[in-house]
Amino acid sequence: MIKLDNVSKKFGTGVFGLSDITLSVDNGEFVFLIGPTGSGKTTIFRLLIRETLPTEGTITVNDWDVVKLPKQKIPHLRKKVGVVFQDLKLLLDRTTFENISLPLEVSGVNSDEAKKRVEEVLTQVGLLSHKDKFPIQLSGGELQRAAIARALILSPEILLADEPTGNLDSATSWEIVKLLSDINEKGTTVIMATHNADIVKSLSKRVIELEKGHLVNDGIHKPHEAKNGHEEKETRKTHETSYEEREKKE
Ligand SMILES: Nc1ncnc2c1ncn2[C@@H]1O[C@H](COP(=O)(O)OP(=O)(O)O)[C@@H](O)[C@H]1O
Ligand SMILES: [Mg+2]
Repeated sequence: MIKLDNVSKKFGTGVFGLSDITLSVDNGEFVFLIGPTGSGKTTIFRLLIRETLPTEGTITVNDWDVVKLPKQKIPHLRKKVGVVFQDLKLLLDRTTFENISLPLEVSGVNSDEAKKRVEEVLTQVGLLSHKDKFPIQLSGGELQRAAIARALILSPEILLADEPTGNLDSATSWEIVKLLSDINEKGTTVIMATHNADIVKSLSKRVIELEKGHLVNDGIHKPHEAKNGHEEKETRKTHETSYEEREKKE
């Protein structure tokens, strides 16, 4: 469970990265986070892993108050929340296998166990045959898969993917979305920040839309509906209804 309550982030420059954002994402959801460059998508991800602090508001991940989380607990938070960064952050002098096993090494997992787990995850993302290749030997889609594998290696409950299709052609983009969707179906909560309107429009997923740091829309997108204001209200209502129904069941 992810919850942001009245979260604002004002940077030292005076720029508001986010203004009064309130939203929640349930366990097991798949959500697209959309909005133009500079709308605050990456800032939300950075706040969720305590890479930066909000200037106002509260952030909850599972049962943790992220803002007040003691420093020594930050590694626990980051274990639960895997991130695929926009710039991937793969180490160029390490193979795919070594890049992906790094978080396990850091957590002190023994090498036999680590090998087994890395091969499991490489199989899941379809990269096992590329395990000994260096990043420079991988295609854009394969690099993205490697970064997803590294984000999954510690079995996070939440996966944040920051514009994972940003530099990919349309067919490869769809493969990455399919992979994220499969990961979600196995139980991981997935939030994908994206610009890719074709993908968002073609899938009936929840869409959270930001504009200049403000939340401007939150609802299930219906692929075949007209895009006028009336329909947008309808989609929003659909989402709220299902949310209320879920709450009643609990
Ligand atoms: N470290 C920072 N210092 C100052 N301003 C920042 C910083 N990070 C982001 N911003 C600003 O905050 C806004 C939101 O940025 P960001 O979250 O990166 O947007 P997005 O990921 O949607 O492109 C932008 O105006 C950006 O310039
Ligand atoms: Mg960004």
